[in-house]
Amino acid sequence: MRKNYIIVSAMTIAGALIMMSSSGGRNDDRTGAPSSNGNCSSCHTGGIQGTSVNIGVTEKGAFTPLTSYQAGKTYTVTIAVLGASSSKGFQSTVLDASNIKTGTTANPTSGSRIISANSRDIVVQSSPSLTGAWSFEWTAPASPTGSVTIYAAGVAANGTGSDNGDQGAVATKSLTLDAGAKTATNNLVSMQVYPNPCSDVLQLSKAADQITITGITGAAFPADISGTNINTLNLPQGFYYLKWTKGNETGTIKFQKN
Ligand code: HEC
Repeated sequence: MRKNYIIVSAMTIAGALIMMSSSGGRNDDRTGAPSSNGNCSSCHTGGIQGTSVNIGVTEKGAFTPLTSYQAGKTYTVTIAVLGASSSKGFQSTVLDASNIKTGTTANPTSGSRIISANSRDIVVQSSPSLTGAWSFEWTAPASPTGSVTIYAAGVAANGTGSDNGDQGAVATKSLTLDAGAKTATNNLVSMQVYPNPCSDVLQLSKAADQITITGITGAAFPADISGTNINTLNLPQGFYYLKWTKGNETGTIKFQKN
């Protein structure tokens, strides 16, 4: 009984040491991001494990690698530390262009956890990993300001429980902001047509990617376009809706054929 108690205490102390130590994940910012406290190679040196770090991003539940993100969506960020080692660790954080924490970091996979350091959410290993693969979820802010960058630092250690004979590496991955389909709030400003009413030609203020013309009852009419000119000679007299798209913008303008 007493013997068991001693073993349990010893395990608790060992566990506590692992949690406090570097192998159980550091509690300061060593992501290698701007204004971090350096990276793993600040201490882990002298090894030739051939360490490299890969960062992958997909939409949550999907498998297509992404280089952009959209407001409010949740993504799965995968960190892989590669190298000849059975004792690997990492840190990763997502920052905006001003190097400030952005979005929400959650659900780190088993063997990792989220700490708060340097006003950032940082995902770290909770114990040295054999596979060196972890993932977590990142939800983009509802009103993003622009590109974000994922920073990651990793170590492939030699498993001797020191920072000697190990090799670190860092990686970054930037995601541009994909604004998605955006409805023009003011059709008059972003696209104009003239003359309105028109007779044989309706002119657009700028070339559109796509134009559709429908009558006010919804019937479609062929849009005979050349550059910014629409040939309206063959349109019957009446009112029409011109729906246009250009890049991320779209709008509808009502015009009249005399
Ligand atoms: C300030 C120095 C320092 C920095 C920076 C540091 N470590 Fe460590 N690390 C240590 C020391 C000392 C040990 C050995 C004692 C221990 O486990 O805490 C260690 C041990 C480890 C181990 C277990 C090593 C083994 O041989 O099994 C891993 C894994 C590890 N660190 C990962 C990391 C990662 C990942 C980073 C960067 C995000 C990092 N460390 C940054 C000092 C550091």
